[in-house]
Amino acid sequence: MDRIRIRGGNKLNGTIHISGAKNAALPLMIIPLLSPETVTLHNVPRLADVSSLRRIMQNHGVDITTAGKRAGQREDSGETLKISAKTIVDTTAPYELVSKMRASFWVLGPLIARMGEAKVSLPGGCAIGTRPVDMHLQAMEKLGAECVVEQGYVIAKAKNGLKGGHISFAKVSVGATHAALMASVLAHGDTTIENAATEPEITDVAQCLIKMGAKIEGLGTRSLNITGVTSLHGAEHTVIADRIEAGTYAMAVGMTGGDVTLRGARADTLEDVILTLRRAGLEVTANNEGLRVQRNGSGILPVDITTDPFPGFPTDLQAQFMGLMTMAKGKSHIRETIFENRFMHVQELVRLGADIHLHGDMAEVRGVAKLTGADVMATDLRASVSLVIAALAAEGETMLHRVYHLDRGFEDLQGKLSAVGADVARIAGA
Ligand code: EPZ
Repeated sequence: MDRIRIRGGNKLNGTIHISGAKNAALPLMIIPLLSPETVTLHNVPRLADVSSLRRIMQNHGVDITTAGKRAGQREDSGETLKISAKTIVDTTAPYELVSKMRASFWVLGPLIARMGEAKVSLPGGCAIGTRPVDMHLQAMEKLGAECVVEQGYVIAKAKNGLKGGHISFAKVSVGATHAALMASVLAHGDTTIENAATEPEITDVAQCLIKMGAKIEGLGTRSLNITGVTSLHGAEHTVIADRIEAGTYAMAVGMTGGDVTLRGARADTLEDVILTLRRAGLEVTANNEGLRVQRNGSGILPVDITTDPFPGFPTDLQAQFMGLMTMAKGKSHIRETIFENRFMHVQELVRLGADIHLHGDMAEVRGVAKLTGADVMATDLRASVSLVIAALAAEGETMLHRVYHLDRGFEDLQGKLSAVGADVARIAGA
């Protein structure tokens, strides 16, 4: 297995291009299941999760081709995928495929909506928590599907098609909101979704659905109204910039000091993060290229955060922010409210010399004057990249193992960091 070697101490200066968002690209690759016509997606990031989902979609009979570069298209602007679900040959998503990537469970809604049936393996637990799918099933039932769980599979049927209904989620869930949206756009009649997630990736998917002919109102609010249509057509859509990737590199600059422009980053998707970083002593300014992040001279100030659904501080940046706080000039408190087990990076940050104590859902981080390189590994994507952030400022050499987690969600991490001056090398496994 490959490893990443980081020699800390270099400031970061220059420009990093922000890729298309993984968490928008994945559901955007799933919604073509709703139409027999081709959906063209631009700015799809080159990630292991995208390749896995490609295989899963192909298993349902979906044809996916990568289009050639368009005139004037930048080298780093992602891929263009043409996705066509003219005929769906299989409504089963088997365990071997769903267990590799959780978001593939989201095929459930579109398969029931278009085919009247679906058999999808339960995704199971994962490194950050139990992650149930009860609210996904409740949403399908509200739309008239019968769902049973047998031998690890959800078997859902709606013989006469789905019907509009009133869905009110007990808590905010990105996945359950995607599921409800994807299923209700083809249901007979009107649907309301209350307590919907408002993450920018949901809005991006809804905008693509609207281009395909769906009728959705209330984008970006907790209350979505959908009027079902009988069919959807093809469309062309560009994946929104990855706010988590942008936030991650902003924190990397905070950690090392320097001056980096995050080209394509969108301030409107990162408001809480930007305010938090400013309180930590970074200069963050929006300009027509994206976001410019600077930290010169002065150290990092401690800031307390609590993760929350959008527009709150994202759980997907919690580990990275903890990486930054390890060298703050004082004590900070980081509370994780979304996933019960998303502190797997703590032990590894401690290996680099961080001073962190866990009290239930809260981590107390006492800033240290210096971190020192070590061998580390992580159990999920965001935890892995928090170790990269810490290693960029650590004295000496850090060797990061289990690099495949990073490949799942960060396009060309090593290339992007090297281009702004970091000493990062990927070492091929034996
Ligand atoms: C999405 O996961 C993201 N994944 C996650 O990003 C992200 O951390 C998460 O949303 C929260 O923002 C993708 O977009 C592919 P949820 P999802 O349903 O949809 C509970 C990354 O690193 N819940 O919003 O699975 C759940 O346990 C990943 O890119 C139920 O109780 O998250 C959690 O406590 C990791 N029942 C909370 O809701 C349900 O049926 C929010 O989870 C569904 C969820």
